[in-house]
Amino acid sequence: MKKSELKELMNEMTLAEKIGQLVQVTPDFFNQSGEITGPAAEWQLSENKLFQIGSVLGTHTAEQVATIQKSYLEESRLKIPLLFMADVIHGYETIFPIPLALASSFSSELTEEVARLSALEATRAGVHVTFSPMADHVMDSRWGRVLESNGEDPILSAELTRGYVRGYQGTDLETETERLAACVKHFIGYGAVQGGRDYNHVDLSPIELYQNYLPAFQAAIEEGVKLVMTSFNPINGQLMSLNRPLIKETLRQELGFNGVVISDWNALEELLAHRVVGDKQQAAAEAFEAGTDIDMMSDCYINHLAEYSDLDSHALDEAVYRILKLKNELGLFENPFRGIQEEAKPIEGALRIAVKEAAMKSFVLLKNDSDTLPIRTQQQVFLLGPKASSKDILGAWSWIGKTEQAIDLAEGLTEQLPHLTVGAAESWAEPSEAEYVKLSEEAKASDVVILALGESSEETGEAASKAEICLPEYQIKLVKRMAAANKNLVVVLFNGRPLDLTAIEPYAKSIVEVWFPGSEGGRAIAETLIGQHNPEGKLPMSFPRAVGQLPFSYQAYSTGRPLTEQNQQEKYVSKYMDVGNEPLYPFGHGLSYSKLSIEAITQSAEVLTEDEPLTIQATVRNDSAQAGNTTVQLYVEDQVSELVRPVKELKSWQQLTVAGNTTAQCTFTLTAADLGYVHSNLTRYPDLGKFRFFVGLDSQNTLTGQFELCEKSEGL
Ligand code: NOJ
Repeated sequence: MKKSELKELMNEMTLAEKIGQLVQVTPDFFNQSGEITGPAAEWQLSENKLFQIGSVLGTHTAEQVATIQKSYLEESRLKIPLLFMADVIHGYETIFPIPLALASSFSSELTEEVARLSALEATRAGVHVTFSPMADHVMDSRWGRVLESNGEDPILSAELTRGYVRGYQGTDLETETERLAACVKHFIGYGAVQGGRDYNHVDLSPIELYQNYLPAFQAAIEEGVKLVMTSFNPINGQLMSLNRPLIKETLRQELGFNGVVISDWNALEELLAHRVVGDKQQAAAEAFEAGTDIDMMSDCYINHLAEYSDLDSHALDEAVYRILKLKNELGLFENPFRGIQEEAKPIEGALRIAVKEAAMKSFVLLKNDSDTLPIRTQQQVFLLGPKASSKDILGAWSWIGKTEQAIDLAEGLTEQLPHLTVGAAESWAEPSEAEYVKLSEEAKASDVVILALGESSEETGEAASKAEICLPEYQIKLVKRMAAANKNLVVVLFNGRPLDLTAIEPYAKSIVEVWFPGSEGGRAIAETLIGQHNPEGKLPMSFPRAVGQLPFSYQAYSTGRPLTEQNQQEKYVSKYMDVGNEPLYPFGHGLSYSKLSIEAITQSAEVLTEDEPLTIQATVRNDSAQAGNTTVQLYVEDQVSELVRPVKELKSWQQLTVAGNTTAQCTFTLTAADLGYVHSNLTRYPDLGKFRFFVGLDSQNTLTGQFELCEKSEGL
């Protein structure tokens, strides 16, 4: 449809029809046969109002979408097609690893590919928009939603977010009907909920907001993301669905976003529980004034926005236009059944191969003493633990995922190991003493014991905050008992958040973090454990030593009294009395079966200017016969800055394959702009002067050098 036709359409719309476009409901609103019942009745929606609604969230099948769209187009006066949105977070039916796992790849090519393939499957089921990517900055793994995040580094998160948006949206949504429009969320600050408790209060300084929280959203906007979802939390005491300065000034003017702003589920009605509005009419009026275009699943707009006597008709037209424009960009006016293909080519096989590859790239080898891994296929292996034969490996957002089709670890290992014994699943909750004796005997008779431990999917994701992030007692006990029986203990961890592994770490020879690995998880893990695949993932979030270290980031700020190797015994330094300051496993950590290390670094100059970037070269050495992939990381520290700054910030990373018993090199280019940070005037620019840089295979063990950022010298 041409722009002029869209405008003509708007001219024909009544006030009620315009407001209807701003409303989003679940599919059960349309399960009507004659009389209005169910949720539509609760909202007292007349048939007229129902067929004015603009969008639907959370459909399950192509058939459901087709039925709703068909009846809607028959019944509604102007026949503006419905827009269908859903949470396609890491796959639709075929489930990829959780986003935090994908972030361990440090690869935006991977997030792009995962998003492209997820869109391929979701569009066939009639979905037009996904509520993804989640670009929230996170530092607190008590918050269950870290599972959906890209981890604790804002630059890494921005890069991965770019990949998702590109992969979902492609270049032209109208012709590429196998792509989805993306909705980046949650704008903004949701990851900073106090105490890591979901839906809790947030208080953030503007500097923090600009430095760490906005960059991933800015990246999504630069990639052309079509929608932004506001978060449940307040910033500066003002809830985000009412936060006019952050929506209208920061998001629209500063970041240049011109797409659709949607509230989160029922957030408008919840304004009453927050006690910032007196009734739904005030909620509707203030949310609209603040810049919320679509009201997701509350009846504030549909039942109360028209009552607002000061409703600005121009602003209403702009909001409606943004929604119609999105429908038009998706080609819905010409093709309201977009993407629904009855005779589509089967894709499941290809998807499952991609899922397995993505999973393998996301596993992080946390520890591997005495080269316990890889397992040799002739070894006698005993597999046990609550996750050994569990298909609960898809993750909390796999609402359409087919759990029964997931490959569990026992199935994956059975394909690879002729001498495998799997402990009986019944005994997992809390083995009795008699069962422990049997398990110990089996462990003693084996060459290697694999313990599959972790969290259930219900313990992770939305509304799954935890005050303790250790493994449960019975799992810790299992580790200790099995370690007493067999020293070759390998722990495979399935979880959605960094855990406190302090209690089990000394007992395991090897620990492999596999997150929630998705539909092909068991196979991907098995191939990794036997060395067909060499681990390469790196932690996108630090694993703390104790929950009391949270919130935590490797980007610790400088303190006047830093803890050093020399002052460990002194009292008045910044430290805990009961645990160290460092995490158990730092950001960027991840081992390989190859023996990789940074051998040397060289730099092109001592000085960097606006016109002359600095190049830093790193040589990575492989002291083993097996080729390995790794991610070389470059961090920087500003020696004198206007504001207090972190002692280390990731600036760049490079992925490298190092053949057996050789070295390989990678080159980083560092520009003046890379050194910028958000100053007291909320503007990002670098400080002139001295910097240190660090190159490592994680954020802690690094080689270091120095340079100076100078103004362009005269005569150059
Ligand atoms: C609430 C969640 O916060 C959000 O991330 C999700 O997209 C919506 N519900 C829709 O399901």
